[in-house]
Amino acid sequence: MAATKNRSSFKAAIQIEQEEFARRRGALLDALRGSIGLVLAGEADANLHHPFAAHAHFTYLTGLVDEPGAALLFDGKNANPARRVQLFLRPLNPEREKWDGFRPEIGGELRARAGIETIFRTNMLPTQLLDAAKRAKSLTLLMPLAAHNSPVSGDLEIFRRTAERIPNCSINDGTTILNAMRACKSKAEVACIQEAGRITGLGFAAAFANLRPNMNEFELQRHVETGYHQGGSRELAFRTIAGGGFNSTVLHYHANDQVLRDGDLVCLDSGAKWCGYSADVTRTLPVNGKFTGRQREIHDLVLAAQTAAIRACKPGARFHHIDEAARAVIRRAGLADAFIHSIGHHLGLETHDANPDAPLQAGAVITIEPGVYLPDEKIGVRIEDDILITARGPVTLTSDIPRSSKEIETAMARARSISKPKRG
Ligand code: GLY
Ligand code: MN
Ligand code: MN
Repeated sequence: MAATKNRSSFKAAIQIEQEEFARRRGALLDALRGSIGLVLAGEADANLHHPFAAHAHFTYLTGLVDEPGAALLFDGKNANPARRVQLFLRPLNPEREKWDGFRPEIGGELRARAGIETIFRTNMLPTQLLDAAKRAKSLTLLMPLAAHNSPVSGDLEIFRRTAERIPNCSINDGTTILNAMRACKSKAEVACIQEAGRITGLGFAAAFANLRPNMNEFELQRHVETGYHQGGSRELAFRTIAGGGFNSTVLHYHANDQVLRDGDLVCLDSGAKWCGYSADVTRTLPVNGKFTGRQREIHDLVLAAQTAAIRACKPGARFHHIDEAARAVIRRAGLADAFIHSIGHHLGLETHDANPDAPLQAGAVITIEPGVYLPDEKIGVRIEDDILITARGPVTLTSDIPRSSKEIETAMARARSISKPKRG
């Protein structure tokens, strides 16, 4: 098969150096201390309703995004160093690949592209895992545990069957290991999130320039997302929320099909992806370019809450400390019951990224997104930015996107004076 054909579906979508992926796998091997770990890419949606997205643990360790059914085996006690990490890929199926795209044979080119020396087809996994488990007598769960109403996590299911066949083989909980690793971003990962934030700024600039009374919410959404495409981003971090008037108070509003009315606010919560990493930004805009007194009062309050929360973002802080910093500001204004969600989440390969449930460390990237929702007044205000935690203080990666009521009005007025609205 011509492995040079330029139509391979086997690609590393994240532009992070192979050495970094190798370092991550090495760190995981160290953390496993000889116990066996198995990281699964997951399955594709057979109905093509959703594009395949490998589990983020798998992508984090390989950079691979398009090999459904793949698995990564960690066997730290293998005498052969080249076999301590083994990648398993589904067998080639030329008939299926006529539909789904070319996949390369196992060989030097594939090894070089994956940066992994030992690659097998998945039909080899049972015997390789058995050999490894006989040696280690210890299996460590790395994939997230499932709730009782969901299927058992894939590695637990495989490990249970393996442990049944090997005397004195234990199954241990290591499900915090990869969450903790992923929560501390490398320089390259921060650069990807920063670039996603920069491109998100282009989309928001298009919103500032084109928002007009009587436009539909989906038109505003289209302007934002066109800005991302023009900035070079193909993928959204999540479905854009563009909710005007009452809909600005609906946290995960997705219909985006109502007319934006003169005098209302629109809550715009959106983000581009870059090289697999997400940005997640919210701005609340006056549809006609000018906040009313009451809208400005609420907007300024939410900004004060966000400022207090960002100030509390330091290594060692926990989300509930940061949440309380914002909530205290809103409580003092008598609106405690109007802040109905929590302050934020980790951000990375997933928009709601792996949460280690531990104090924040330098290198974490989180969102800070307080909101006040007053449905009776058709006022929902959320302000969301992406924050890098450092020992020298928080760094707002999305600070270039106009944020205060005054900055937003100025940006909208300026953008409107230099661009006629693009409708259609
Ligand atoms: N857009 C979802 C969130 O902000 O978490
Ligand atoms: Mn958001
Ligand atoms: Mn968010």
